[in-house]
Amino acid sequence: MSFSKLFAPLTVGPYRLSHRVIMAPLTRMRAQDGTVAAHALNVLHYKQRASDGGLIIAEASQVSQAGQGYPATPGIHSERQIEGWRDVTEAVHLKGGRIFLQLWHVGRVSHSSLQPNGALPVAPSAIRINGETLTASWKSVPFETPRALETEEIAEVVESFRQGAENAKLAGFDGVELHGANGYLVEQFLQSRSNQRSDQYGGSVENRCRFLKETVDALIDVWGSDRVAVRLSPYGVANESGDDDPVSLYRHVLRQLNPLGLGYLHFIEPRSSGAGRADVNHQNVPSALELFRSDWSGVLIGAGGFDGASAEATVASGRADAIAFGRAFIANPDLPTRLKLNIPLNPYNRATFYGGGAAGYTDYSRYET
Ligand code: FNR
Repeated sequence: MSFSKLFAPLTVGPYRLSHRVIMAPLTRMRAQDGTVAAHALNVLHYKQRASDGGLIIAEASQVSQAGQGYPATPGIHSERQIEGWRDVTEAVHLKGGRIFLQLWHVGRVSHSSLQPNGALPVAPSAIRINGETLTASWKSVPFETPRALETEEIAEVVESFRQGAENAKLAGFDGVELHGANGYLVEQFLQSRSNQRSDQYGGSVENRCRFLKETVDALIDVWGSDRVAVRLSPYGVANESGDDDPVSLYRHVLRQLNPLGLGYLHFIEPRSSGAGRADVNHQNVPSALELFRSDWSGVLIGAGGFDGASAEATVASGRADAIAFGRAFIANPDLPTRLKLNIPLNPYNRATFYGGGAAGYTDYSRYET
């Protein structure tokens, strides 16, 4: 099979990409403990996956201590973290690649052991997620009921995203992607199931979109609109997300974002809405790309459950301009080359997705070796 569309150049903001096989943001929980900064092994991981003219979206990185949700996820709020990431961006640039950073605040998907002074996690509303999460010392415990943010505190959270964007610039990234998916803070504000506020950040669709819009505006202040991107997961179910009327909600979101001239919009297809937590795709669920393509006039990236053939067909049909691969990129550092040359893919090992060292992180083979 030939992938002529997947390997046609694409312009994203000021950058000309040589192909459309994007590396999806992938939390690996292998940042250095304590400062949770990127280090040599992380540099190697990204360097292995960089390609000339390719785009990597680096893993979700908390913009503040309060934004951290899991042990050993990297941050972008301290000097050490900026330095660690700078080594990563330099390595990717040396290979001719581009790299955006995904900016993250987990909101209620955290635990007090990860929070400043052991405080409760914050969220739009004090609604607990049923189920278990990890403490700072990797212990599985039930989620806590978060503390609802006071209206006056919300500007500070927006400010932490602005600072994260500034820091990403200092670290040498080419742009930033706002993590607006998978049940984390931005999505908690957007969706009715997690947002039951009665101030200007809750209630109507307009109000629930306010936090996203203010945050995007802050990122644009720092980067200009064409190097800012947003990732969304309509119909997602990760972290008990959900909305009563996703079509109206996301149409409104796109109406607000479309005129801004963002670098790209990134959709996770609902069929893989567990954020890659299951090996099987859901059947009979809507396609975000199909539902919302006509509402977006800029570059659109699709992700979730793609292989080379479906990626090529999706780009050829115009439903997306590029495809981000998650699990396949974990197991195939040279994924673009493998797809281009029809070389079989290495299978991924789910047991080594999160935490640990080189195993399952930097030891997947390239086809040449
Ligand atoms: C993810 N995913 C994810 N999404 C995101 O927006 N930020 C992140 O940091 C992560 N982290 C992450 C870690 C791991 C180990 C997996 C498997 C997934 C979701 C990911 O970007 C992607 O949307 C899904 O994996 C679905 O795409 P694939 O794997 O079917 O190509």
